[in-house]
Amino acid sequence: MTESRLETVRRLPTHVEDLRTGPPDVFVDSSDTHWARLDWSELGRPYLVENTSRAKRDWERQHGEDMPIPVQWEHFNRSFHALFASDVPKRIADTRRELAKRVVGLDARATSGVMRELVQLGVWNYVQRVQDAVWDPRGKRSLFEGLDLRRPRILFLGAAEGYEAMQLLAQYPGGEAVLVDYDAFCRDERFATFPETYPFLGHNPRTGGWDVHRIRDFDIDFVVSDIRDLDFGAEFDIVLSVGLLEHFPDEHKPLALDWHRKFLKPGGYAIMTTPRRQWRSRAFYLAMGEIMNYGYRELMDERQLGLYAYENGFEILRCGFIKAHNGIVARPR
Ligand SMILES: C[S@@+](CC[C@H](N)C(=O)[O-])C[C@H]1O[C@@H](n2cnc3c(N)ncnc32)[C@H](O)[C@@H]1O
Repeated sequence: MTESRLETVRRLPTHVEDLRTGPPDVFVDSSDTHWARLDWSELGRPYLVENTSRAKRDWERQHGEDMPIPVQWEHFNRSFHALFASDVPKRIADTRRELAKRVVGLDARATSGVMRELVQLGVWNYVQRVQDAVWDPRGKRSLFEGLDLRRPRILFLGAAEGYEAMQLLAQYPGGEAVLVDYDAFCRDERFATFPETYPFLGHNPRTGGWDVHRIRDFDIDFVVSDIRDLDFGAEFDIVLSVGLLEHFPDEHKPLALDWHRKFLKPGGYAIMTTPRRQWRSRAFYLAMGEIMNYGYRELMDERQLGLYAYENGFEILRCGFIKAHNGIVARPR
């Protein structure tokens, strides 16, 4: 498929279509870290996000128990998806009108609820439509570029809507991806309603030049399953996760890292990203806590992510950060 819009950026009500092919603002590389010489006393531990959603606290009061982790994800996926599906400028305009009504009606409780919603929409608008920091196609492309892969088989653990597997399939065309998530909503809504026209900038295997791929071009299978129940063998060229490892306290990280090893073919790549430990991310999870924070969540930096993987038997081939996430490309040692 040829594409005449290369180098353009379109800001839509829900997201950005960015077809710029080059830097700036891509991938800050710290791959030359001497992993064997690093230790935790130098790095410190990740920052723990402690504010949780009121919906979680209400659920726990009602049920008289802690919210189980799969239920946490069900809440997260529904409220996160509602943001992705929003016409953001229209929602902001509607919410402003609603706020004016509540202020005129001297309804203090409703006013504060509407103000909170307005702040959340403003943050989402900035992160998703101004910065394009959630999908961050240029950062992800740069993190994924230059790997020794032809028609790869990709396993995406905790895939949600599967964005990063699609970006990889655009860069390494002709491959196939298996998306795994135990929340069926991810298959039936988040993946099923992913924008059909979204342009993934990748390559054309015949010409070696740029090419634009869309969701319909990809060979993707969505498996609704707990990762722990998968019966695949060591059959994937890439095992990928995006925003998974930071939800495991240290005592469970070896298990989560092992998931990235056991399904890999010899020579395959484990690719992991986690949200960055930076003031913007702290502010994001503070402002968006009602929508996003249902369970355990850390913010780490790229060297902490790399050291977790290194200590658990991976060779770190690439390590760095993009707008909102750290990223590593690694191989079992
Ligand atoms: C933080 S999300 C990933 C972030 C994602 N990029 C997004 O946009 O939402 C993690 C996903 O992993 C899934 N997940 C967590 N633990 C899982 C498990 N043990 N088996 C299968 N899926 C799991 C959750 O349902 C959730 O959709």
